[in-house]
Amino acid sequence: MSLPISCNKDRWWEGYNVYLENSDVQEHVGEWIEDDFESKVVKILYDGLGGDNIGVDQPLRVLGIGSAEGQQEILQLEKLKTKFSKLSTTVIEPNKQMFLQYQETVRQKSSDLTGIEFEWHNQTYQDYVILHGVKKKYHFISMVHSIYYVGDSDLEETIKELYDILVPGGVILMLLLTDHTGIGKLLHTFPNLATQEQNSAPSDPSMTKSNRLINSTDVKSILDKHQIAYTQSELREFLNITACFTGIDAAKRNLLLDILTQTIDFKASVSTTVYNQVLDFVKDHMSVRKSHHNDDELCYFDTVNDILLITK
Ligand SMILES: C[S@@+](CC[C@H](N)C(=O)[O-])C[C@H]1O[C@@H](n2cnc3c(N)ncnc32)[C@H](O)[C@@H]1O
Repeated sequence: MSLPISCNKDRWWEGYNVYLENSDVQEHVGEWIEDDFESKVVKILYDGLGGDNIGVDQPLRVLGIGSAEGQQEILQLEKLKTKFSKLSTTVIEPNKQMFLQYQETVRQKSSDLTGIEFEWHNQTYQDYVILHGVKKKYHFISMVHSIYYVGDSDLEETIKELYDILVPGGVILMLLLTDHTGIGKLLHTFPNLATQEQNSAPSDPSMTKSNRLINSTDVKSILDKHQIAYTQSELREFLNITACFTGIDAAKRNLLLDILTQTIDFKASVSTTVYNQVLDFVKDHMSVRKSHHNDDELCYFDTVNDILLITK
């Protein structure tokens, strides 16, 4: 029997680290923050809220959900600081190691982060809401590749709740997979790998959780339904999946496949037929290109992510 990788946090982190080693997603998100965050996010916030002396008399309230070690969020905070001198940031991150790493980076960079207060929550968003409710409102909410885990039980309710805690004039940044390229398309095409064989009934009806991750089409249809305003832009990432075919490190190959399919021990837990179907899909959608670093020919599985800026 196979299970969604979300059921085993340790395995997920192991796989996610192998994925990050082979993807340039962090680099591209960092470039987007460097090049576009000021004109696309800071400007909207400043135009919408600056007149109310936000960031001067009272802090701009920022909420980071699924912040990991804070790499991307700190870049965003530094940009926000150029227009808002006072910031109050609430960090929600359930992984202890990442959470402690974020705190350590803030300690090390304290001179660059003056004027920013941090409130720390080492828990899931769902637990945070149970414990603290949804009374506090925010001017900016950052969710980079985290809506999958926050909205997995009821996406529509989660989006309505996030929109409720957004102050008018505020912005939610949501970066997530699309369903028409790379990993998003793979998971959209094979949504039931973790619960059942493709096209057959689940053997255990209590196991309803699928390996399919929320994608931007899911989110946009809810935003459209509730007439919530947003803009959309694309962010490409290149994932080197050579290890899935020729890598000599079997452990890494399996972890990368687990992340691509969001299934624990994918190779061992599905039938040869399903395994081959998925590998054929990957082969049909990958490109073989020269490495940026040397002349090696590598297999790339390219993904287009969506950046949604939700405004109120
Ligand atoms: C794909 S990582 C993205 C991390 C970070 N935002 C970035 O872009 O580098 C997803 C993050 O969401 C966190 N996470 C998982 N489930 C969560 C939940 N229910 N509530 C909040 N965060 C969650 C994970 O621990 C992880 O740090």
